Amino acid sequence: MNTSLITGASSGIGMAFANELASRKNNLVLVARTEEKLKQLAQKIREEHKVKVEIIVKDLTVSTAAFDIFNAMIEKNISIDTLINNAGLGDYGLFSTSERIKQLEMIQLNVTALVDLTYQFLPQMIQRGRGNIINISSIAAFQGLPYMAVYAATKCFVLSFSEALWAENSKAGVKVLAVCPGPTKTQFYENASFERFSNEAESSRLDSPLEVVREALNALDSGVSHVVTGRWENKIISGIPRFLPRESWSKILEQEFRPNIL
Ligand SMILES: NC(=O)c1ccc[n+]([C@@H]2O[C@H](COP(=O)([O-])OP(=O)(O)OC[C@H]3O[C@@H](n4cnc5c(N)ncnc54)[C@H](OP(=O)(O)O)[C@@H]3O)[C@@H](O)[C@H]2O)c1
Repeated sequence: MNTSLITGASSGIGMAFANELASRKNNLVLVARTEEKLKQLAQKIREEHKVKVEIIVKDLTVSTAAFDIFNAMIEKNISIDTLINNAGLGDYGLFSTSERIKQLEMIQLNVTALVDLTYQFLPQMIQRGRGNIINISSIAAFQGLPYMAVYAATKCFVLSFSEALWAENSKAGVKVLAVCPGPTKTQFYENASFERFSNEAESSRLDSPLEVVREALNALDSGVSHVVTGRWENKIISGIPRFLPRESWSKILEQEFRPNIL
């Protein structure tokens, strides 16, 4: 049976990956900070799907986190077939007045932990001649995003990094995929202080996490380097920067995303 390690598994897209992969008979290693949520999810999945589920309670902004997780897997004699770097954090607002620590933590979580976990687990996969790495990027990756400047830059990094590793490792039998969801119904916007999707009409426009996960797993099977998931608008939005002058698109986005208070 294959084993998948999912970061940010306690909620949203990560939780949907856990449920879907368990239904496809994967054993799981679930990583997040909130122990109670992980325990409840693990219990539910064990009962429903009869697979093995380990939990690791870990703050991925701590610099040793990826190393600790890798060592925990060695100690438990678990080899990871699919690594899903999903944990991520956004922040909405003017960069110049934003909370410094939150911007730095975002880079640590969205970029550094993802790179380090990939660094830890990829060599084993290459040695075995098989493995999968799924990195969760965003449609924010395709351009600078005013008022989510650091977040979009981290997701651009994830897309670029994943595409490069896709090409480096395709002959080694390791698949690398960047998943670029559009707005999806999770805790993400609340945690990022972005209120647009808090009313019912706007919230009905959000994609479901399960839909994102199923599209991602189909894309992994087909061997592409990245996939834009969800409704057709997401595909259009991610393609616009190739056709419009970058400055014009940035100005449009600045108006669209400008906070009410400015
Ligand atoms: N929702 C969207 O519209 C959307 C669109 C594009 C891309 N994405 C990306 O999708 C990924 C998943 O986000 P989501 O939408 O599912 O949001 P979410 O519901 O807020 O889930 C985020 C997950 O990350 C975990 N996490 C946060 N900080 C962490 C830390 N320091 N260490 C370890 N785990 C941490 C959270 O668990 P704990 O709090 O328990 O640690 C939670 O399980 C993110 O990378 C996000 O950027 C989301």
